[in-house]
Amino acid sequence: MKVVRDAAAMRALSEERRLRGDRIGFVPTMGALHEGHLSLVRLARSGATCVVVSIFVNPTQFGPGEDFELYPRDVERDCDLLDEVGCDLVFAPTVEGMYPEGHRTEVSVTGLSDRLCGRFRPGHFNGVATVVLKLFNVVRPDFAVFGQKDVQQLIVIRRMVEDLDLGVEIVAGPTIRETDGLAASSRNLYLSGTERRQATCLHRALRQAETLFRSGERRAGVLVDEMRRIIEAEPSAKPEYVSIVDPSSLEDLDMISRDALAVLAVRVGRTRLIDNVRLMVEG
Ligand code: PAJ
Repeated sequence: MKVVRDAAAMRALSEERRLRGDRIGFVPTMGALHEGHLSLVRLARSGATCVVVSIFVNPTQFGPGEDFELYPRDVERDCDLLDEVGCDLVFAPTVEGMYPEGHRTEVSVTGLSDRLCGRFRPGHFNGVATVVLKLFNVVRPDFAVFGQKDVQQLIVIRRMVEDLDLGVEIVAGPTIRETDGLAASSRNLYLSGTERRQATCLHRALRQAETLFRSGERRAGVLVDEMRRIIEAEPSAKPEYVSIVDPSSLEDLDMISRDALAVLAVRVGRTRLIDNVRLMVEG
C-alpha cells in the first residue's frame, strides 16, 4: 500500500493504474477510521482492482466553533487498518495542498444543502461538495463509496455527480452499528460513559418509527412525536431535528405514501450525532 500526500503524485499514480486497465474504487474519509469506514473499503474492494482511500480532515466543511481542531487524527493507525483490509493507495493531502493561497471556487448543491443538517451547519455541504469534487478530480475513480449513515451527504453527492456530468458511479454502503445499535462514528469518541449509554436513543427512536410504520402507521407526525418522546426521555439528549422526508428532495412528508427516510440529529451533551432509516413502501 502506498501513501501519497501530493495531489500531482496521486493523480499520476491513479492515471497509471487506469491505463493498465484497473477499475478504480474510491472511499473518501476524514480518518479516525472505524468499522463503518472499513466496511466501505471492503465494498470498494469487491468491485475494484485498485482501491483508493483519502484521509483529509476538510476544514471548509466545519463551521466556526465546530470540532475541526478537536477532530481525532491518527494517520499511522488508519494506514495500518487500511493495509489490512486491502487498500492500494492512500491519499492524505495537507490543508495547504488542497487549499493553496488564492483558492476561491465553491460548489453549492442548492436546496438540498440547506435542509436538515444544512440548517444547523450553514456552509457544511458546500464544503463537502467542493472537497469531494476536488478529490474526484485528483483520483478520477470509476466509482466511489459513501455511507448511508450520512444520507444527506450521499444525496447531495449523487445530485452533484449528475448535475456536473462527473461520470462517477456512486455506491451506498449500509450503516454499521455497535452491538447496542449506535451507529459507528468518529465522534462517538467524544461521549462520556453516561452519554454513550444515552446515545442509543437515536437508534431506539428510529427502530420505534420503523415498527410503527410496519404496523401500518402512515402519518409522519405520529412517527416524529414518538421519536422525539424517546429522545427527550434521555437527560443529555437534545434533538436538533427529527423528520420524515422524501429521499430525493429531502422535503418533509405529512403522509408516507412512497419510500421515505426517517432522519434525526441529536446533541448528546456537546456531541452532535446523526442517524436515519429508510421506510420502504411495499408493492
Ligand atoms: P467521514 O465522516 O470520515 O466518513 C467517511 C465515509 O464513511 C462517509 O461516506 C460516511 O458516510 C461513512 N460512514 C461513517 N460512519 C459510517 C457507518 N457507521 N456506517 C457506514 N458508513 C459510515 O463523511 C465524511 O468523512 C466527509 O464528509 C467526506 C465525504 C470525506 C468529505 O470530507
